[in-house]
Amino acid sequence: MISWRKHYRQTLIAIGLLLSTSASIYGQDGDPKNGEKLFKANCTACHALDKQVVGPPLKGVVERVKTEGGVDKDWLHKWIKNNKELRASGDKYANEIFEKFNKTEMQVFPNLTDKDIDDILAYTTNPPAPEEPKKDATVQAGTTDGAQAAPQSSTTTNVVIISLLAIAALLVWILLKLRQLVKLGQSEDLAGLNETRVKSFSEIYAKYHYVGKGLIAILALLATYGIWNWIMWIGVYKGYKPEQPIYFSHKIHAGEQKINCQLCHSSAKYGKVSEIPSMNVCMNCHRTISEYNAQHYMEPGKDKAFYDGEIQKIYAATGWDPAKQQYTGKTQPVEWTRIHNMPDFVYFNHAQHVVAGEQAIINSFNKKNPDNKIDVVCKACHGKIDTMNVVQMANDFTMGWCIECHRTTEVDMNNGYNKEYFKNLHDKLKKQYPKDGGKITVDAIGGLECGKCHY
Ligand code: HEC
Ligand code: HEC
Ligand code: HEC
Ligand code: HEC
Ligand code: HEC
Ligand code: HEC
Repeated sequence: MISWRKHYRQTLIAIGLLLSTSASIYGQDGDPKNGEKLFKANCTACHALDKQVVGPPLKGVVERVKTEGGVDKDWLHKWIKNNKELRASGDKYANEIFEKFNKTEMQVFPNLTDKDIDDILAYTTNPPAPEEPKKDATVQAGTTDGAQAAPQSSTTTNVVIISLLAIAALLVWILLKLRQLVKLGQSEDLAGLNETRVKSFSEIYAKYHYVGKGLIAILALLATYGIWNWIMWIGVYKGYKPEQPIYFSHKIHAGEQKINCQLCHSSAKYGKVSEIPSMNVCMNCHRTISEYNAQHYMEPGKDKAFYDGEIQKIYAATGWDPAKQQYTGKTQPVEWTRIHNMPDFVYFNHAQHVVAGEQAIINSFNKKNPDNKIDVVCKACHGKIDTMNVVQMANDFTMGWCIECHRTTEVDMNNGYNKEYFKNLHDKLKKQYPKDGGKITVDAIGGLECGKCHY
């Protein structure tokens, strides 16, 4: 026993020495830029750099597995390529972390080359500062103006740095020119020199203004590329806020008029989708409300005539003739632009959240946001819709976002729905999760199982 321990420690020390002497090499034997790309393409569904998602945070993972498991980069290569095989081989640490994560299977990546993996590890060791933009996993409500701090990617930082350098160079050039001018002013034979200088300056300008223009064009291209990258990087459309065919304001309907969300989005309660209401729903009220009497609220920059015009569009769509108070039969479909749209391989069910999860989600949200409490469950995910004139996505609606909530929301085992559904499971779970005083979060009832959210 003792000798084993000694060996173990010696090996550890040896590995430690080896690793620390080669630490500098580690920093270099991978391309963090390429690693970043690969990481985003393959790993972000389950990993973030600095917080747990499905798997552990991966920032500094090379160092961490060394201290926690006594394993090296070679092990990491094997694990990332095929963790199943590694576990099957009886590897101690591999099985240990598998158990630790409740036997959640990590995907295998047989197609990643050793170079790819080195690049990814280089990225996790040296993520470019500023860090990964915060995929804000905590639910946010009340983001009405889209004025979120713009996350920065390394590309945008590069663009910013290059632009700053260019501006600095320009400033230096101007300073030099000014100094020359001052010197000129002090010199004796001002007139003559001045003339030649001015002449040569304009000559130089005439000769080289293409260069200046070219530089500006290149800068503009770089900036566009940076912005494009930034949009693509988040890959999500938090803040997405398209224009709609009718200027329908949730602030006026759900906020000022306090109309219940489910009066219009009634299917949220029963089904998978929570559809946009049909024009008939609008007509229930607008058959009589043909004008906007805007005493209570008017958006800056809009007037009564504008709102009245928008209400007229309902009549055009349904073929209602307000003068004759009858339908003409000529209808035009209104094509709302869909704002939220999960990829086809994701299964999301509103009823599960709006009915079964309602109280649990409201309670959990209010506990996390004591200064920004919600009364209606919808707002936990969609933000304060009743303050938005134009609907926008209030969260990033990524997998990490779903998972974060499932990990932290305690299921209400006593509501009618769950009592019925989980009758037998409940007691079993209580025994299984005695820590935290028997708290059962959504992950315990299967909320992290791939098949629950993926077809
Ligand atoms: C389908 C989800 C999933 C994907 C995709 C995924 N992982 Fe994992 N990963 C996990 C889970 C879960 C664990 C924890 C161990 C377990 O349960 O098997 C883990 C563990 C790890 C570990 C061990 C960390 C430690 O602290 O011991 C490393 C390293 C790792 N993953 C790297 C990667 C890399 C690199 C990628 C992308 C090429 C990736 N993973 C993609 C789910 C995933
Ligand atoms: C009077 C009817 C009405 C009421 C009440 C109403 N909505 Fe809507 N909602 C609409 C219409 C029409 C659209 C489509 C146009 C738009 O996006 O503004 C819409 C769009 C939405 C969308 C975006 C759908 C997409 O395309 O992804 C969400 C989310 C939403 N509503 C949530 C709510 C919430 C939450 C409430 C309650 C606070 C609410 N709505 C109250 C009529 C209504
Ligand atoms: C429950 C009743 C009700 C329903 C249903 C309803 N509205 Fe309204 N709507 C109102 C009221 C009340 C006002 C404000 C009238 C006022 O203050 O004078 C209004 C105002 C409007 C306005 C002008 C203000 C704005 O939001 O731009 C538009 C446009 C409008 N509604 C469109 C719609 C559309 C489209 C639908 C169907 C998706 C709809 N409404 C459904 C009650 C309703
Ligand atoms: C747990 C988070 C969550 C809650 C709570 C929630 N939604 Fe949603 N909502 C989503 C997601 C995710 C989508 C995208 C669904 C898709 O694309 O399949 C969505 C989409 C929508 C849409 C667009 C049409 C559709 O069904 O795809 C409307 C409208 C909507 N929600 C309204 C509501 C209303 C009204 C409530 C409250 C009664 C509500 N939502 C509660 C997450 C939520
Ligand atoms: C605001 C918190 C929250 C968010 C965000 C959220 N969920 Fe949930 N989800 C819940 C709660 C709470 C339950 C449990 C409801 C109950 O009591 O049965 C649940 C249950 C589920 C279940 C059923 C799990 C089971 O084993 O029965 C599925 C599937 C699911 N959610 C999918 C999703 C998907 C997909 C997303 C992201 C698009 C998502 N959820 C986002 C809170 C959330
Ligand atoms: C709580 C719901 C939920 C669970 C559980 C879940 N996913 Fe996902 N997953 C999603 C959503 C939502 C998306 C789409 C995110 C987006 O469009 O940004 C997604 C996307 C993905 C993608 C595509 C990633 C990408 O970047 O395009 C993969 C691969 C994936 N999931 C694998 C898994 C695996 C493997 C598991 C089991 C360990 C799992 N998911 C469990 C909700 C879930």
